[in-house]
Amino acid sequence: MRRWFLLVAMLAGACGQPRDSTPANQAAAAPPPVYDRLAGNPIEHGHRIADVLGCTGCHQADLTGEDWGDPEFGTLWTSNLSRALARYDDAALERAIRGGLRHDGSDLLAMPSFLFTQIGAEDMAALIAFLRSVPPSGVDHPLPALGPAGRQELAEGKLHYAPADVVREGQAWPPDAGAPLARGRAIVRATCAECHGMNLQGAPEIDPPRPPLSVAGAYDRAAFHTLMRTGKGMGNRELRLMSDVSRGRYNRFTDPEIDAVFDYLVAIARRAPAG
Ligand code: HEC
Ligand code: HEC
Repeated sequence: MRRWFLLVAMLAGACGQPRDSTPANQAAAAPPPVYDRLAGNPIEHGHRIADVLGCTGCHQADLTGEDWGDPEFGTLWTSNLSRALARYDDAALERAIRGGLRHDGSDLLAMPSFLFTQIGAEDMAALIAFLRSVPPSGVDHPLPALGPAGRQELAEGKLHYAPADVVREGQAWPPDAGAPLARGRAIVRATCAECHGMNLQGAPEIDPPRPPLSVAGAYDRAAFHTLMRTGKGMGNRELRLMSDVSRGRYNRFTDPEIDAVFDYLVAIARRAPAG
């Protein structure tokens, strides 16, 4: 049970006020690939992207899914993708990942599709090639069926259907720091905004509290690489959630990807109002 993931959706809807992020008009051109292609093999490339984006975290390394439910909350599994994929052609799969729609057109619950709307076509093709390469195993899980606590979370806006998040934040971006830092911005949008917010302002109300990403401005480059690679914060500190996320996902970044994230976040931190 990893219920903190549900807070992702909560955070996505947390702020009602306008964000310091860019509206739809920037989405016109097809986004370029942002992840380094280490392997000539698109399946290995896609596997690394799936790790970095957290697909293999929520859906498990073998993609067989995880049980998020309990009697009060109700039934919610992260799908067994290894079996579900047979029900999707590639277009429908892309619609599920970017748009939050199941193969039959119904709404997926709590799948963070709004983070994946801006993935470039080549990166998406590699991701799909990887997903299709995983042999079916395990069992199909039941569809979501919310109990009283789950229905309450839905009513309170703590739990969301994926297409609603896509409408709200699918075209939103973290702050612009200029074209040379666009790659870092795209990586941060897809990987850090999930917890630190699309506007990178964090979420102090969620346990453990997510700091604003201007905190990265206190890091030097070497300490930031250490955080991403080992999960240890500055001064060799073990963190509550960030250490696990780094070890599970960000240690799969390449050095240039970490540099791109760092350079972008430092630029944002310099612009952030003091305090
Ligand atoms: C924060 C956790 C989380 C992350 C990260 C996540 N998913 Fe999901 N995903 C879910 C949940 C929960 C469901 C089940 C929703 C439902 O059944 O209504 C789901 C459902 C899906 C489905 C529909 C499968 C079916 O049963 O028909 C696809 C496809 C999918 N995810 C692909 C991906 C891919 C690819 C990634 C990475 C780019 C990803 N997911 C990342 C939580 C997540
Ligand atoms: C699953 C949620 C989650 C994701 C995704 C996430 N973070 Fe964090 N982050 C946290 C939390 C929570 C903290 C506060 C420390 C803790 O309790 O783990 C934190 C703290 C931090 C800190 C401050 C560490 C310190 O010195 O105290 C930095 C820097 C940071 N995150 C950077 C990032 C970057 C960069 C990304 C994307 C590449 C990212 N985070 C993605 C949850 C997340």
